[in-house]
Amino acid sequence: MVNAIIAAPLSDCAFVHYSLLRPLLFALDPERAHALTLDALDRTNALGLAGLIADRPRSEKGSTVRAMGLEFPNPVGLAAGMDKNGAHIDGLAALGFGFIEIGTTTPRPQPGNPKPRMFRLPHAQALINRLGFNNEGVDALLGNVGRSRFVREGGMLGINIGKNFDTPIERAADDYLACLRKVYDKASYVTVNISSPNTANLRELQSAAALGGLIRALKSEQQRLADTHGRLVPLAVKIAPDLTQEQVEAIARLLVEYEIEAVIATNTTIARDAVSALPHGNETGGLSGAPLRPRSTQVIRWLAAALEGALPIIGVGGIGSGADAREKIEAGAALVQLYTGLVYRGPDLVGECVRALAA
Ligand SMILES: Cc1cc2nc3c(=O)[nH]c(=O)nc-3n(C[C@H](O)[C@H](O)[C@H](O)COP(=O)(O)O)c2cc1C
Repeated sequence: MVNAIIAAPLSDCAFVHYSLLRPLLFALDPERAHALTLDALDRTNALGLAGLIADRPRSEKGSTVRAMGLEFPNPVGLAAGMDKNGAHIDGLAALGFGFIEIGTTTPRPQPGNPKPRMFRLPHAQALINRLGFNNEGVDALLGNVGRSRFVREGGMLGINIGKNFDTPIERAADDYLACLRKVYDKASYVTVNISSPNTANLRELQSAAALGGLIRALKSEQQRLADTHGRLVPLAVKIAPDLTQEQVEAIARLLVEYEIEAVIATNTTIARDAVSALPHGNETGGLSGAPLRPRSTQVIRWLAAALEGALPIIGVGGIGSGADAREKIEAGAALVQLYTGLVYRGPDLVGECVRALAA
């Protein structure tokens, strides 16, 4: 086995290593495995050994994509939530992503929900989480961003912002505005997360009445900040998969009306039909991974039809192969993001998706 690893070309190594590592990681509590993996990634990268983990396909020929007025070296990004505090940007970037989205961050630090709050459903290649925006707050995140070489070298960084759990929903805009002001000149784009199922009432912000008020306030602050900093940082709105076609169309109309620069579809789902018979299948929280894929792709199709190209769609939800990434692009996405697929497939998935989309 060891010989097989040594003899394998570098591009195969990542897969061989992860297939060996996965049973060990899956024997651990999911949050512990998560922390260990990210630490190992940082250490490997700091030693200059990132090539042993992934074959860095960031500049694959023909994979550059322009969206939101930005140039992405490839269309495959890291989805929000894996690096909530931006503490592992360089290690994650070494896997070959075209862009990295950190957060969700909130104005003040908060511990999130009691543990256990993250569950694997291996038979469904899925996760359920109810982390609840556990994070060290936006100031700590900015400290980490300031130390990132990837950021210094002009890498594409999305910063995903939310509200503290104890901020009343009527005051939610204050939290988003506070975060936007702080992260503005450090981000390539800023994501407004109104779709996590783990912060009480957050998804109510997707209703036409609430969303109109929130994005009007954010757009006017964005304009003020653009004048101050001499650069317009695009805003992306991240939506849930648990919306009807009519709700998606109403959101699309607002995004066009207020000239929001992008939409991210989708966050995790509260639906359980595909997994309710499985161990952990009825845990409270957001379901991600393979069972989410068809629903998230459907939302992308509805958005694409309603938006008619007015703004780009970032497709996320259940991508576990290059073919899944293509499905999102064919449904109308300009860029894609990965999270749960990485847990099941390992870092090899990034290169596979980049190549599938370049082909
Ligand atoms: C453990 C976990 C934590 C997450 N945290 C966040 C978050 O803080 N903010 C956010 O916008 N999305 C968060 N997400 C949602 C992902 O960014 C993504 O939208 C969703 O998981 C669907 O993609 P996937 O099926 O590839 O995982 C989280 C997902 C997981 C699995």
